[in-house]
Amino acid sequence: MDAQVDPNAIHPIELRELTLENNLVLAPMAGVSTLPFRLISKEAGAALTFTETVSAKGLVMGGHKTRRLLDSTPREAPVAFQLFGSDPQVLGEACRRLDGEGAAWIDLNVGCPVKKFIKNHAGSALLRDLPRAASIVREMRRGFRGTLSVKMRTGWDAENINAPQFAKIAVAEGAELLSVHGRTRVQQYTGSADREIIRQVVDAAPEVPVLANGDILGPTDVFDMLRETGAAGVMIGRGAMGNPWIFEQTLALARGVSPRRPSREDRYATIERHVGWILNAFDDPRPLATNLKKYLFAYSKGLPGSALFRQRTLEASEVDEILSLTRDFFGSANASIEPDSGRAA
Ligand SMILES: Cc1cc2nc3c(=O)[nH]c(=O)nc-3n(C[C@H](O)[C@H](O)[C@H](O)COP(=O)(O)O)c2cc1C
Repeated sequence: MDAQVDPNAIHPIELRELTLENNLVLAPMAGVSTLPFRLISKEAGAALTFTETVSAKGLVMGGHKTRRLLDSTPREAPVAFQLFGSDPQVLGEACRRLDGEGAAWIDLNVGCPVKKFIKNHAGSALLRDLPRAASIVREMRRGFRGTLSVKMRTGWDAENINAPQFAKIAVAEGAELLSVHGRTRVQQYTGSADREIIRQVVDAAPEVPVLANGDILGPTDVFDMLRETGAAGVMIGRGAMGNPWIFEQTLALARGVSPRRPSREDRYATIERHVGWILNAFDDPRPLATNLKKYLFAYSKGLPGSALFRQRTLEASEVDEILSLTRDFFGSANASIEPDSGRAA
């Protein structure tokens, strides 16, 4: 076995209300971490999934579309509902309502770098206003009995790295787990995730588990990240898109088994289930064809002939045509992808 792979690095995480089976977690990704993809990741071994980020205000105002983004199924449990917003009272109220519906886990978004969020003092803008961030966590805690967590970036920019300071505040206000994406807001997605700052957050908040996040693209990255940061677990985003097998490959490596690439059949079986669940719709308001293409492109990455597959699929506007191209590329001609092939509920 690789000297750098510590089998003890993969372990359960104990929390007040629940225990995570292992320390591999799917990151929240807007437009990507939808229920079908979360279920696929769960099947592959992720112990916890995060929903994409959802407006607390939208929830409180009773928006149907907003609520649908939090659709889940018992099979998925536990799932963390990620909320964004800037008004402590609104976030507190959103938590109370979700608590009333039996939600088990709510996460606060203190990382999103998008301008629209920043203008509204939400996402990573909260790193420039720690008193507001503190009062949001306080109100969320007041309104919610389940597991409360916070996901943050390292700071606003290189001159203002304050994730360790905020970590202490968030824990003092009742956060029970923290996730840290090792980049500043200004970095957006450039450069690389700073493991040293993640380590500083781990040191600053010894009372709670910290999930280290950023640039984990393969199973060995998981072990490197855990070793270099001392984090309790990892959160994987882009590295799981098109490759949910990263979770089972990591678990295999920890057992001393060489991680195997999924066979064509395994890959197709997963894609078939994933697509089946997307077709089942879960009332996702986004256009179906665009939604399908996003995942299919990711699954095809690196496979022989994928450029042509992507080009043809890009040109296809009808769902049937996309499914037919998918069958031809990933599966055998007789394999079927039917709307009901993978009912999730
Ligand atoms: C398409 C996309 C959507 C994202 N949406 C969210 C989000 O809704 N909430 C959030 O906290 N982070 C979001 N992120 C950030 C990821 O959760 C993660 O922190 C970041 O991608 C770094 O991890 P990775 O290198 O493993 O992808 C998003 C990232 C991507 C690529």
